[in-house]
Amino acid sequence: MEEVVIKGNRYYNQDCITGAQKNIKADSVDLIITDPPYGIDGDKLHRHYNRDEDFIVDGYVEIPADQYADFSHKWIQQAERILKPGGSIYIVSGYTNLYHILDALRDSELEEVNHIIWKYNFGVYTKKKYISSHYHILFYQKPGGERTFNLYSRYGHNERDKKGGSLNYQDREDVWIINREYKPGRKKNKNELPKDLLIKIMQYSSKQGDLVCDLFMGGFSTAEVAVGLKRKFVGFEIAESIFSSGVERIKNVKKGSLINKLRTPDSSKPKNQNQPWTNSEKKQLKKRYIDLQDEYEYKKDIIKKLCSEFGRGRFGIQRMLKKVMD
Ligand SMILES: C[S@@+](CC[C@H](N)C(=O)[O-])C[C@H]1O[C@@H](n2cnc3c(N)ncnc32)[C@H](O)[C@@H]1O
Repeated sequence: MEEVVIKGNRYYNQDCITGAQKNIKADSVDLIITDPPYGIDGDKLHRHYNRDEDFIVDGYVEIPADQYADFSHKWIQQAERILKPGGSIYIVSGYTNLYHILDALRDSELEEVNHIIWKYNFGVYTKKKYISSHYHILFYQKPGGERTFNLYSRYGHNERDKKGGSLNYQDREDVWIINREYKPGRKKNKNELPKDLLIKIMQYSSKQGDLVCDLFMGGFSTAEVAVGLKRKFVGFEIAESIFSSGVERIKNVKKGSLINKLRTPDSSKPKNQNQPWTNSEKKQLKKRYIDLQDEYEYKKDIIKKLCSEFGRGRFGIQRMLKKVMD
């Protein structure tokens, strides 16, 4: 069972380096999301976790530390080859062997876009040192084409939290706080990535119908989200037991099943945004600003009120206030 095709998507029970060379054309993949073995004796990772090992699928293939550098160079060369110009790659890495991955990336043509810190609750307890609670996510692109980045796919330009902060800005900061999923009773891979993390990456960096690839599928979480968001998928997993259990899981995933669960961003714009200001509007703005100072304690609340009264965005109001109050 080396290759399994389900609903047009391809899953390979192969080493991703030779497998990609044989089965994936150059310049054909829109987005790679991948989480290689960490080279830290991952098959004993469970010793540090507080969880029921009966539900962990056995067979995880780890890379010996002394081979990690060469291994990283080889798979990253394949990733570079198969990505379309302008295509994006997100690599999840712990810190121990991060330098090998960075070194391999620097030896490639791939260009850095962001270095993201993913913070989560690891569940490890320490007494004499700080508690490890982050991974690195290296977001790179292949040069030579336009990169997909769907700026308003999750939050509209004008969406604010209760304190007036931009939700779009906050969602795009490069520290992500996303906890791992706790699913008691379900079979899973040792390091399964949470769906929310994969959804976020796919929403920003791909479109429906794009081809997404994971070179180290583990529990098929990337595949599951890709199918759920109507992306096409191709991926590799070397361990037979992990692969078979992933195939069983993916068979039950319906194409597009996650789309209705996504939040709809509010893309409405204030009605006068980008319109020139009339003189009477400017006079009225000055008057209302002075009046509202008696009603509200904080400037940000006054601005919020003015935005809704004048049908303009926050920056437009702030800019004009500077002029009329001088
Ligand atoms: C960190 S896990 C991936 C976890 C996955 N992201 C998930 O959410 O379940 C890495 C996986 O890569 C597999 N692996 C190791 N060497 C490989 C290789 N040369 N080609 C393909 N898969 C490999 C391991 O067996 C393991 O399942």
